[in-house]
Amino acid sequence: MSRPEGTVSYDNRGRVALVSGGSQGIGMAVCQAFLASGAHVASIDINSFCGNPAENFLCLQGDTSSEDDCQRAVLQTVSAFGGLDILVNNAAIQPPDSYVPVHQSTQASWQRMVEINFSGYTWLAKHAIAHMLRQGSGVVVNMSSGQAHRTARGVPCYGPIKAANILQAMQWGVEYARNGIRVVSVSPGAIRTPLVEASLQQQGGEMELANRHPLGRIGNPEEVAAAVLWLCSPAASFITATDLQVDGGLGAFGAFADPYPKQSPD
Ligand SMILES: NC(=O)c1ccc[n+]([C@@H]2O[C@H](COP(=O)([O-])OP(=O)(O)OC[C@H]3O[C@@H](n4cnc5c(N)ncnc54)[C@H](O)[C@@H]3O)[C@@H](O)[C@H]2O)c1
Repeated sequence: MSRPEGTVSYDNRGRVALVSGGSQGIGMAVCQAFLASGAHVASIDINSFCGNPAENFLCLQGDTSSEDDCQRAVLQTVSAFGGLDILVNNAAIQPPDSYVPVHQSTQASWQRMVEINFSGYTWLAKHAIAHMLRQGSGVVVNMSSGQAHRTARGVPCYGPIKAANILQAMQWGVEYARNGIRVVSVSPGAIRTPLVEASLQQQGGEMELANRHPLGRIGNPEEVAAAVLWLCSPAASFITATDLQVDGGLGAFGAFADPYPKQSPD
């Protein structure tokens, strides 16, 4: 007989969250989880993705590499919903042409990744935190990656920027700790999203990738969203300036360890 697992629920009624990159993948799951818990949610995404937006969902088209777009997203969120309690910096790219050793990297690809994955997080945080300082409260979550903690061949830009996303969260967390603002980062392992599906073959296929995680599978976007909701809740009130790995044990598994026997992911 299976044992009870317990349940968790969140009440985010009245709270306002701004999420970058909400049109798909982890960002979409984070938006949906906040909406399901009663929050008002805005998302800035480079894609125009608002079919029939709900009353409590504000869909903003914009490019997070532009400080103007980020400032506008914060202003529109506050003006639509009356405040800003949560910022989730999530929008990032990892274009196929970026999977090269550093001596083959191109300036155009490098710059675009820096502008979105690093500077974009800064611009949104800059304007969101300015508002949170006036409010005296807020939570910022930077979506980082397992690739911030350890590296691989062919990721000379993506991985180092993901490490910087953790240090951004630590620095902002320390800076604003006495202002009622907590800042954390989340480092997912491989999560089933369009970004990962696009590079699955480069990573050896699904079974191979799943097997590198001690839990034996790729994660779901909802599992990352669940961690974000917890970190943004009062249950995480003593957590700031740190990183949470949501990675099925990937980070603990040494490269020297015997691989697990392969099993099909079904
Ligand atoms: N999927 C994974 O396995 C995985 C693992 C570790 C970390 N991450 C991180 O999680 C985050 C989300 O990843 P994902 O897999 O859901 O990616 P994804 O490619 O599926 O979604 C990214 C979203 O960001 C948007 N976006 C891209 N550039 C933008 C810009 N300039 N301005 C605004 N929006 C923009 C895209 O339109 C898209 O909606 C990223 O920060 C990624 O680095 C993902």
